[in-house]
Amino acid sequence: MPLTAKSVPRIALVSSLLAAVAGAAVLMAAPASGAASTLGAAAAQSGRYFGTAVAANKLSDQTYVGILNREFNMVTPENEMKIDATEPNQGQFSYGNADRIVAHAKAQGMRVRGHTLAWYSQQPGWMQNMSGSTLRSAMLNHVTQVATHYKGQLYSWDVVNEAFADGNSGGRRDSNLQRTGNDWIEAAFRAARAADPNTKLCYNDYNTDDWGQAKTQGVYRMVQDFKSRGVPIDCVGFQSHFNSNSPVPSNYQTTLSSFAALGVDVQITELDIEGSGSSQASNYQRVVQACMAVARCNGITVWGIRDSDSWRSSGTPLLFDGSGNKKAAYTSVLNALNAGGTNPTDPTTTTTTTTTQNPQPGGCTATYSEGQKWNDRFNGNVTVSGTDNWVVTVTVSSPQKVISTWNTSATWDSSGNVMTARPNGSGNSFGFTIQHNGNWNWPSLTCSTG
Ligand code: G3I
Repeated sequence: MPLTAKSVPRIALVSSLLAAVAGAAVLMAAPASGAASTLGAAAAQSGRYFGTAVAANKLSDQTYVGILNREFNMVTPENEMKIDATEPNQGQFSYGNADRIVAHAKAQGMRVRGHTLAWYSQQPGWMQNMSGSTLRSAMLNHVTQVATHYKGQLYSWDVVNEAFADGNSGGRRDSNLQRTGNDWIEAAFRAARAADPNTKLCYNDYNTDDWGQAKTQGVYRMVQDFKSRGVPIDCVGFQSHFNSNSPVPSNYQTTLSSFAALGVDVQITELDIEGSGSSQASNYQRVVQACMAVARCNGITVWGIRDSDSWRSSGTPLLFDGSGNKKAAYTSVLNALNAGGTNPTDPTTTTTTTTTQNPQPGGCTATYSEGQKWNDRFNGNVTVSGTDNWVVTVTVSSPQKVISTWNTSATWDSSGNVMTARPNGSGNSFGFTIQHNGNWNWPSLTCSTG
């Protein structure tokens, strides 16, 4: 019902739902609606992706490309976007091999994770010899140029790779970049955001899978600090290179959900697990199940296709053997993806996250609960109590857009960010889909009587 002079709102209750709260929400992914027969399709059933590292020089290998095109819907260039590949001489940029991978992915409807803009390793000779403010400027220029070249084309960027030290310090790894000042990481993220505002910006590392490790805690504190100070970070990548010396930790899911609770996406970015047969298969299954149980774990990438494509091929760590046949590990991954994301034993996965304001006499209360999430959008549900004659404003923050609604009659203000929802005869609950464009914050709600 439209507001009239006689129906001035009597009481308005505002619920501001903060990004940090949104990050704490972990919900059940939708159960699989049916068994899919490829990794990408199985992951897509719960809004996730399944990707692989790709080497440009293998795009002429028919077996390799056949598996790639059939099974995967996300691609990470294995080496082609690294600093030594994209800026071999200072100020001279070289994108040939990386562009070939991006073009192949696009033609196949796959998305691309960019890897990586700033790293202590794989630096070209000219950069290795730099230090101080000269290096800082060169690094930022590299980030700006490469992120600009791929602006709007990538799903995410590993902006900074492997910046923390192994061992018990929980601190930064020593490197020429680190010696330019502790703020080099946030400077890189800000430069990447300025160059490509709509691509997810990730911090990516290894040996950060075990929640009890100092390195994991060090990265966690950095992400927490970045979120609290508004440094633009959208995701954390867990490389997840496992073998008998570095097994899948029992608290892996805790690690993923703890980072997600900071308000970032989490992604498994370079998965490989050395071994064979049923033990390798069950390790893969555990990793996939952990991701499936955390709503903001929105994708898994394996670090190569066949064992023979692996950077550590002697450990046979991948899902296809050297001839391209599916291994037991493949089947366990496919089944875990098809099983969907419900994990009733983990309380964080079964919590229905709602925010409720204290009801006041004569007023109304709008309660928000998080709905399903996909890579590009999420659903929100609102239940109103206290009146059947409600007016709820739903304010999203730019660049979010409400792209559909149900069980309400909705109008928008001129900015398109403020939706006014009223009953349409379907009761006192309604919902909407928000295309997030990189901003996962929940909307603010105001409830008033009409
Ligand atoms: O292509 C050249 C070849 O022409 C030359 O003859 C040969 C001689 O060494 O080198 C070949 O290049 C190698 C390249 O892989 C392609 O195979 C490089 O030497 C070698 O250093 C490079 O290794 C890559 C490594 O990163 C470098 O840091 C691996 O392929 C790649 O899988 C690995 O990926 C990293 C991630 O980026 C970050 N996380 C860890 C992960 C595994 O190390």
